[in-house]
Amino acid sequence: MKILALSGSLRAVSINSAVLRVVKQLAPASIEVGLFSGLGDLPLYNPDLENAPPAVALQLRNEVASADALLIASPEYAHGVTGTIKNALDWLVAFEGFVDKPVVVLNASPRAHHADAALRETLVTMSATLIEVASIALPLPSANIGGAELLAMPEIVSLLTGVLTKIQRRVKLLPDMKSFLGCSVYIDSQHPAIVAQAAKLAEGCADEEAIAKRCFEFVRDEIKHSWDYRLNPVTCKASEVLIHGTGYCYAKSHLLAALLRANGIPAALCYQRLTLDGDQPPYCLHGLNAVYLPQHGWYRIDARGNKPGVNADFCPPLEKLAFPIVNSFEQDLPDIHAEPLTAVIKALTEHQTVEQVYQNLPDVAATEQ
Ligand SMILES: Cc1cc2nc3c(=O)[nH]c(=O)nc-3n(C[C@H](O)[C@H](O)[C@H](O)COP(=O)(O)O)c2cc1C
Repeated sequence: MKILALSGSLRAVSINSAVLRVVKQLAPASIEVGLFSGLGDLPLYNPDLENAPPAVALQLRNEVASADALLIASPEYAHGVTGTIKNALDWLVAFEGFVDKPVVVLNASPRAHHADAALRETLVTMSATLIEVASIALPLPSANIGGAELLAMPEIVSLLTGVLTKIQRRVKLLPDMKSFLGCSVYIDSQHPAIVAQAAKLAEGCADEEAIAKRCFEFVRDEIKHSWDYRLNPVTCKASEVLIHGTGYCYAKSHLLAALLRANGIPAALCYQRLTLDGDQPPYCLHGLNAVYLPQHGWYRIDARGNKPGVNADFCPPLEKLAFPIVNSFEQDLPDIHAEPLTAVIKALTEHQTVEQVYQNLPDVAATEQ
């Protein structure tokens, strides 16, 4: 696997460049880390040059194209990103090879949060796949530290080794996970309200599992189940669920999937077939989620909302869903889905009130599995 490292500082004794060189030193034989040394030679980006880009810009684009992931470390200048890194990214805006590229951002000075946020915003706008789980701030005591001192700090060595492992794991997973990370009409994970809520929920979380738990608890506890609370309007898209604060189980699962995907965590929709009441027919589908956790693989969670007799939780690897399967007609449907089932979308979009939805809940008989 190849990682291309970009430092946003041209300083000879740059801490950001030192961190990237240490990452290179720590990389196992299976990972090749190359530090691009030509950012200072890039002319200021000018779209007029697109017809005949300078050699150094072509070299940057080639190296980006052949890398499996980019690793960026850049200082903050006057609450913004440095011109060096912004200019490099400007040269990549119109470059097809950058789209969907997995990118990790390292922040060598944790108090410099403006540039970190701005850099992430630019990268997401450029359609990079930000690997959140590996994008960390390094608790460095000062900016005047060289490579040898960094290598002598066990905590930093362990964090940077972890970054490499996480990049490798995620890059291997990405082709399979792409559909479970995507933004779509109903799982609209790039909607501004979803992006903002996802970022708020991720604040202060140490890892993906902590983020997933926060997202789960938010949807379970803060979004009211439309039938429990008899709340209109009927919602379907993740952003509608968030904005109106209510949804049926299916709709809540769309919101949870979107919040997880907005945080770069693979999320799927799954279903059970349950009785509506007690253990007699009629039956209907029940919507829940599966989240991909690096430690545990796919893990099912049910954020429909707790109430007396219903006590769903996030406690991997233990599965704690809302409803047990109580008779032979009820079923845990085995598949995981990147998109909601057609019958679910139909039920939520073709009926005007929560009462009408309740009278027309989707069932597996009306669903192709
Ligand atoms: C022109 C300039 C502006 C800076 N502005 C900020 C700033 O707004 N916020 C901040 O936290 N640090 C700021 N710094 C400090 C640098 O971000 C810090 O020294 C960083 O470690 C430099 O990275 P480097 O060692 O990789 O060059 C600034 C430094 C310079 C040279």
